Amino acid sequence: MDTMNPLIEEMKLKLLEAIEAAGISWEEKQPPALRPCGDRRFGDYQANAAMTQAKRLGRNPRELAETVAAWWNEHHAAQATVSVAGPGFLNFLLTNETLLRALQPNCWSHLPKKVENPPVLILDYSSPNVAKSMHVGHIRSTLLGDSLSRVMRHAGWQVITDNHIGDWGTQFGKLIVGYLHQGSEERLAANPIGEMERLYKWAHEAGEHDPALQECARLELKKLQDGDSRNKALWERFRGMSQSAFDSMYGRLNISFDYTLGESFYHPMLGGVVDDLMRAGVASESEGATCVFFDDKMLQDKPFLIRKSDGAFLYSTTDLATLKYRANHFKADKIWYVTDLRQALHFQQLFATAKKWGVSVESEHIGFGSILGQDKRPLKTREGDPIKLDALLDEAVSRALAILEERRADLPSDEKKALAEVLGINSVKYSDLAQNRHLDYVFDWNKMLAFDGNTAPYVLNAYVRIQSIFRKSGESSSEKYELASPQHPRERDLMLHLLQWDDTLAQVAEEKRPHYLCFYLFYLAGLFHAFFESCPVLKSEPALKRHRLALCRMAADTLREGCGLLGLQTIEKM
Ligand code: ARG
Repeated sequence: MDTMNPLIEEMKLKLLEAIEAAGISWEEKQPPALRPCGDRRFGDYQANAAMTQAKRLGRNPRELAETVAAWWNEHHAAQATVSVAGPGFLNFLLTNETLLRALQPNCWSHLPKKVENPPVLILDYSSPNVAKSMHVGHIRSTLLGDSLSRVMRHAGWQVITDNHIGDWGTQFGKLIVGYLHQGSEERLAANPIGEMERLYKWAHEAGEHDPALQECARLELKKLQDGDSRNKALWERFRGMSQSAFDSMYGRLNISFDYTLGESFYHPMLGGVVDDLMRAGVASESEGATCVFFDDKMLQDKPFLIRKSDGAFLYSTTDLATLKYRANHFKADKIWYVTDLRQALHFQQLFATAKKWGVSVESEHIGFGSILGQDKRPLKTREGDPIKLDALLDEAVSRALAILEERRADLPSDEKKALAEVLGINSVKYSDLAQNRHLDYVFDWNKMLAFDGNTAPYVLNAYVRIQSIFRKSGESSSEKYELASPQHPRERDLMLHLLQWDDTLAQVAEEKRPHYLCFYLFYLAGLFHAFFESCPVLKSEPALKRHRLALCRMAADTLREGCGLLGLQTIEKM
C-alpha cells in the first residue's frame, strides 16, 4: 500500500514519465514509490527509483538521477522541484501551490477509504485463556490487534475480529478436580477468577506428589471430552464466568470483537482435520503420533505434531481447523495472528502445513516482544507472578489522578476522576503502541504519564489546546475556514505533515506497526505547538485568521482521528 493523495499519485506517474524519458523501460507493476523524506531538510518527498533502475541496468545511479531530475525540472517545476542527493536519491520539494491543492477537501480527508472488492481480513488477537486472569502478557496482543483492526477498516478492508480464547484443554481436568475437592461457592461468587486460579493451582500442586489425583484429572478431562453432562455443565460455568471477566476488561479498554470462537468451537472438527491431512498425504504416522514433515530447509527437522500417540489433539490441530474454517466459512483472503514472538515457529509450521493442504489464505504472524520491568526482565509482581491487567490499569488511573490533582486542582473531583480513567488507560495504551512491536521494552510509569515526549498526555494536550483556541475564537464549528498558501515556515511544516497522514497510515498498514502513527501524532503535536508559538491565530487579520483557524481545525481533526485509530479516546480538557 502506498500513499493515496491524488496529487502525490499524479506525481508518481509524472516521475514514471521522467524515468522513461531517460531511456528506461519501467517493468514494475506499480509506478515508482514516493515516500515522505525522512529528513525534511532534504525535501518533502523522496524517490529511490533512479537507484533501483540503475542497479538493474548496471548504470551509474547518480547520473541517471541527474537526468531524471533535469527532465522533471524542465517540465514540472510548477508542481515540485527535484534535487539529487547522496548516491542518487531524488528529493522533491513541493511548491506552496501544490501543497495547498493537495490539502483541499477533494484530495485530502480523514474519512475511511472506499475500496472495491476489499480483501477480507481476519484479525486474531487478545485470545486469553479461560479460568485465568488477563495479565500483562495479554496487553500487546490486545492493543496491537485492536489498533490494526481500526487502521485496516479505515483503509477500506473488510475486517473480521476474532478472539480465539483458550477455552478447551488439559487445564479443565485439573480445574474440575480442584472444584470437586476444594470448591467453594461463596468464593466463586465473590471472586470467580481468583477462585478458579486457586482451584487449578491446588490440583496442579497436589497432583505433583499424588499420582492418583493426577489420574483423576485425566479421567475428568476425558469425561468432559466425551460429553459427560456434569463436567460439561461445570466447564460451561467456568467459561461463562471467565467471559464476563474478559468482557468487563474489554469494556474498560473500549475494545470489542466480532466473534469469540474459542478453541472449544473447533473441537468437534479435529478428528476430521487429522483424517483429511492423512488422506491428502500431508500428514503421516510417526512412532504412533501423527505429524506433518516439511522439505523446506528451515523446517526440515521441525515436524508439526498434530496428534499425540495417546490420540490427544493439540494447539496445532485446533489452529489447523481454525484456519480452514476461516478460509471456508468467512472466505478470508488474509489472516493476521497477533501473538508474541515466542510462537513464531508454531505459525511457520501452521502456514507451511496449510500450504501443503491447499488452503489458500495469506496468513501472517504479527509477532511482538516482551514487556520488561526496570530490571530488564519480564515484568512480574514481587512474588514472581505475572501482573494482572486490572491491577495495572487501576494503578495507571490512580497515578493519572495524582497528576491531575496537581495540575487541575480547580476541577470538581468527579470530573477529575472521569478524566483520570481516560488519561490513565490512554497512557498505558499509547506507551505500548508507541513501541516498535518487534522489540522488548521497559515498562515505565513516569515516562508514559509524562506531559513531554512521545506520550498520550503530550498528544492529547495538543488536542486540548486547539479546542480551547476554538472556544476562545467564539466561532462555531460550522464556520467556513479557508486554507491559504503557507505564509510562514511553521505553517508550511504543519501543512506538509498533515499531507503525510495518508502516507503514515499506508506505512502502518504495510508493516503492521502502529508505532508509526504514534510518532506521527507526536510530531504533529510538536509542529502544532511550534506553529502556534510563531503564528498568531485569533489576533490576525480576517483572511489570515481564517487560514490559520483552518489549520487548527485540520490539526485537531487529525489528532482525534489518529487517536481513534490507536483506540484512544480524546478529551476536551486536561
Ligand atoms: N491462547 C493463546 C495463548 O494464550 C493464543 C492464541 C493465539 N491465536 C491462535 N489462533 N493461535 O498463547
